[in-house]
Amino acid sequence: NWTADSFVDTTVAALKEKIGTDKVVLGLSGGVDSSVAAMLIHRAIGANLYCIFVDNGLLRKDEFQGVLDSYKTLGLNVKGVDAQQQFYSALTGLTDPEAKRKAIGKTFIDVFDQESHLIEDVSWLGQGTIYPDVIESVSVKGPSATIKSHHNVGGLPDFMKLKVVEPLNTLFKDEVRAVGRSMGLPEFILGRHPFPGPGLAIRILGDITPEKVAILQEVDALFINGLKREGLYDQVWQAGAMLLPIQSVGVMGDERTYERVVALRAVTSVDGMTADWAHLPYSFLADISNEIINKVKGVNRVVYDISSKPPATIEWE
Ligand code: XMP
Repeated sequence: NWTADSFVDTTVAALKEKIGTDKVVLGLSGGVDSSVAAMLIHRAIGANLYCIFVDNGLLRKDEFQGVLDSYKTLGLNVKGVDAQQQFYSALTGLTDPEAKRKAIGKTFIDVFDQESHLIEDVSWLGQGTIYPDVIESVSVKGPSATIKSHHNVGGLPDFMKLKVVEPLNTLFKDEVRAVGRSMGLPEFILGRHPFPGPGLAIRILGDITPEKVAILQEVDALFINGLKREGLYDQVWQAGAMLLPIQSVGVMGDERTYERVVALRAVTSVDGMTADWAHLPYSFLADISNEIINKVKGVNRVVYDISSKPPATIEWE
């Protein structure tokens, strides 16, 4: 009979045995899987686990610092790396969604490789791979797939030659959550919506600039905080905002404005493979629309996406 507590006990014992006094490097994403993997390995080997959390400049508003602080509170040996400029320059001028994904994946690998070289005598790479990632044979998603699609270019980065330790590779998502909960991972990490690895870069249609990221972060934060305030956050699978590459006419006093359009997207789903648009209350949508237009400079129109997957995807890129 599987229980989270017994999984933790046996896994920690097995990790101790396997890793011994070696060092492990692990990239934290802020998501549930990498966080739980880190907690298990940390419980087994303590400060010999070196965690790296990269700020790619494409995260939600204030998320990097908030998540970094909570990792530190959990006792993890974590280094926050500000690589925002590196990601922005890699993205300059790119508009094709797959080109943006590739540039982000490659930059992540460069940053991670550089950081892992700073750890002396590291011999293991820890990963938060879960069972569905293992069985998903043809995957175009996620950091490990990103790594796969790059490891032919100029040979493997050194960290990919490390031995791999994946303590969650037999678990499903709900089991990972149960393990995280039993180890005291905070609810705000456990209950968070999925968020794509390329982050806001695939929610800004067209090219990425720091200014567009800043606008979208404000819009997204108002939407997400509104969902939380109204008790709607846990009722949807995923929510976010898209910044569209068009402007539309508005009116302010006697003046006509010509400003940006944002699309809000919230879906219900079981696994992200299919999804229905979330039937959020009209009164909520009305309030959020007003709040966004009043507070976010440069945005004069808000639309709500009422498409289901398939054929529409959850993300717009
Ligand atoms: P779509 O847009 O394909 O998204 O319906 C399904 C789920 O996958 C996430 N997603 C990604 N996650 N890298 C990721 O790590 C990506 O490039 C990526 N693209 C989409 C999306 O947020 C949703 O949860």
